[in-house]
Amino acid sequence: MIQPLTGCFLTSLFIKMKLQILATLVTLVPYALGFPHLANFPEHRSLAGLSPEEVQVVMGTFSSMPGPQPLPPPIDDTSEKLVNDVAHPFKALRRGDIRGPCPGLNTLASHGYLPRDGVVTPAQIITAVQEGYNLGHQFASFLCYTAFLTDGNHLTNLMTIGANTTTHGQPTTGINTHGHFEGDASMSRDDAFLGNNINFNETLFDAFQVAADAVGGGLLTLDAIVLNRQIRIKDSIARNPQFAFESPRFLGAIAESAFIFAMFVSGQTVDNKKPLTIDAVRHFFDFHRLPHGFRRRQGPFDFPLVENLTFSIVDMAGAKPGSNKGVNNYVVNTQDLATFCYVYQKQVNFTATLYPNPTPKLRDAIKQNLLTYYQALGKPECEQYFPFGR
Ligand code: HEM
Repeated sequence: MIQPLTGCFLTSLFIKMKLQILATLVTLVPYALGFPHLANFPEHRSLAGLSPEEVQVVMGTFSSMPGPQPLPPPIDDTSEKLVNDVAHPFKALRRGDIRGPCPGLNTLASHGYLPRDGVVTPAQIITAVQEGYNLGHQFASFLCYTAFLTDGNHLTNLMTIGANTTTHGQPTTGINTHGHFEGDASMSRDDAFLGNNINFNETLFDAFQVAADAVGGGLLTLDAIVLNRQIRIKDSIARNPQFAFESPRFLGAIAESAFIFAMFVSGQTVDNKKPLTIDAVRHFFDFHRLPHGFRRRQGPFDFPLVENLTFSIVDMAGAKPGSNKGVNNYVVNTQDLATFCYVYQKQVNFTATLYPNPTPKLRDAIKQNLLTYYQALGKPECEQYFPFGR
């Protein structure tokens, strides 16, 4: 049927056209101001590496700038429950959907616990990891802000769960800025020096089966997880002359081994007694998909449970922070405290180096996010740092 040209229809058509013209004009602003390389700057890209003038230009192109937001509240119900449910169906990737180095977040996006395109706010991550896996609110907040401070956009409050993009040569977006959170000796991704540090690698994944067969009777028991961690560290020592395994990567990598044991087991008990299957690990790491009938763990996995399990794996694996000075020449760094206070301190210092000369608005936003980061850490015994003022 032909749409009658009513006044209301014409008005909405007119408004739509005006908005389209406005949007086109906004994308032309960087050209008009002499910064053509900033045209189409994604709203989720970090502003690190931009001069104050460049920040002003891209600010003019953002559709909204909510700035820093408070932590979302903890979820009310933390019981074990079915999470691969009808409300959260797996959907295959569409063109342009972003995925990255974290099997936990990739899977949540593929099931709609996170926006399926992979562009997210910190609050969305913090809520989704609680809903989907029962990661504790405190640790979820700490982890999320560790990533956001490196890779998030402090003005739009957006980040992505993956793919790095670049602003004149500077890696600035996604959670895969190498050498901080993302790093070497991953369980399923290669070291950046050796190849692709984002995509799944079948050869490395085989080390799960090797460990399960050697000490777990075919299953990934805690002993098998520890052996897998040792295999992955030894492999990087043997092949990567630039292997870097200091905080925060040191604790991060070992916490990730704890994560699969505590959260990729369907209905895992509070004291992590159930072993993990290779099939479940394959679902998360390779397919970004919750296993059929998957139930989140019993009770939140939070401080101090996270610390207990992480430091048990450190001890059992005999792991020490350090780095290679050439292949097979691993030097332990005795100055590296390898504590969560230390991870916080290093992340704050790193954030300060990313923004040596922020605009006043950007400075205020980073300052606020650093306060939120300390709140997320939730450890009054750790010294608080204020590189952008109090
Ligand atoms: C709370 C927000 C989270 C952020 C910001 C985050 C971020 C990351 C990043 C940057 C990596 C790459 C590290 C590397 O180089 O290996 C990673 C790896 C990993 N993440 Fe997450 N993650 C989060 C939550 C989770 C959750 C809830 C789980 C599990 C339920 C999880 C499981 C893993 C595992 C197993 C790896 C290691 C992958 C490998 O070694 O191949 N993450 N995550």
